[in-house]
Amino acid sequence: MDLRRQYDGIREDVLAAIARVCDSQSFILGPEVEALEREIAALTGAASAVGCASGTEALWLALVAAGVKPGDSVITTAFSFFASASAIVRAGATPVFVDVDPGTLNLDAVLVGRQLRTKRLENLRAILPVHLYGQCADMDAFDRIVKEYAKENAKENTEEYSREFGVAIIEDAAQAIGAEWAGRGAGSLGAAAAFSFYPTKNLSAYGDAGIVTTIHPEMAEHMRQLRNHGSPRRYYHDEFGWNGRMDAIQAAVLRVKLAHIADWNQRRRQHAATYDQLFAGSGLTSEVTSNRSSNQLSAPVRLLSRSPQAKHVFHQYVIRAQRRDELRKFLAERKIGSEVYYPLPLHLQPVFSYLGLKAGDLPVSELAAKEVLALPMFPELTEAEIRRVVESIAEFYS
Ligand SMILES: Cc1ncc(COP(=O)(O)O)c(C=O)c1O
Repeated sequence: MDLRRQYDGIREDVLAAIARVCDSQSFILGPEVEALEREIAALTGAASAVGCASGTEALWLALVAAGVKPGDSVITTAFSFFASASAIVRAGATPVFVDVDPGTLNLDAVLVGRQLRTKRLENLRAILPVHLYGQCADMDAFDRIVKEYAKENAKENTEEYSREFGVAIIEDAAQAIGAEWAGRGAGSLGAAAAFSFYPTKNLSAYGDAGIVTTIHPEMAEHMRQLRNHGSPRRYYHDEFGWNGRMDAIQAAVLRVKLAHIADWNQRRRQHAATYDQLFAGSGLTSEVTSNRSSNQLSAPVRLLSRSPQAKHVFHQYVIRAQRRDELRKFLAERKIGSEVYYPLPLHLQPVFSYLGLKAGDLPVSELAAKEVLALPMFPELTEAEIRRVVESIAEFYS
């Protein structure tokens, strides 16, 4: 990834935005953050957005505002960045890891449904799907699952009851700004959604920053309080919050970049189509499959599957590769960057050993961790560079 190419195109605007904040001498929250919140709410189709310190903070705010508390359980994917699960722990709850779909590597809704039918979870409060690599998880299926669960478990199945005591869907949309599911924006598909503006994300700050969106304005008010020490007014505290506020300089930079995000995401989709085409012509790839029983690679490279309902924003372009680590080394020797997201599934991380899961328990995630490889992907990438990546991969397997 070459961030400098992006910077070269927007340098004047970014520096002017930073100067505007310096001239205002207003550095935390304030008008820049409020303007960004309105703009992100409009982009995603959510009712409100709450700017905060990072994507990790955004996840925690969403969980706590959705009512997740000590003693609760939250279902999430075993194949994601650590924060998807650590935010659950920080909210005092227990993550329940479920395996991923072999085609998309997103949380498998069929397995979640099966788990809920066969095993009663203590105080299930939320389901946290991750829109991995920029493609939305199957939000229709999670919606159905939550409604069925509420029907079976609620004493009174009223809208109010399930808002108060039911199971909330929290989107981890850290990698999915601008993505859509069935024409609706990521960030408006569950009760709340967390976005990260980490410098390598599709929409990125010049430091750490994040935002939570929600379809419930009263949840937004709660999150505004939580991000500021649980304080409804200065030096009065109703609950334990934290300092999770966003800096005005980050908001100002993000607002400059937000004007470009539709174009940048479109360019990422074009690059993905070029990769797809070149792989199809290379003879390296096998059919994409979502069949759980044929999860083994039959050709050197396998592409991930794309849900027809999803408008992908290709935060990453990821392949599954035989002899992945050797391939990675081969590419590095040719100065082609690649990365493994993620080399160890969450249920096998030492810090989660207290959950009692072991190797073999979530086989799709475990195999994916051995095979996935993210190839160069950013808007300013050239077709010639993409060609060189695919040709180098073909050379490795020849
Ligand atoms: C899926 C996912 N969730 C959460 C996060 C956490 O975001 P941040 O690094 O901004 O705290 C990230 C990004 O790093 C991510 O990729």
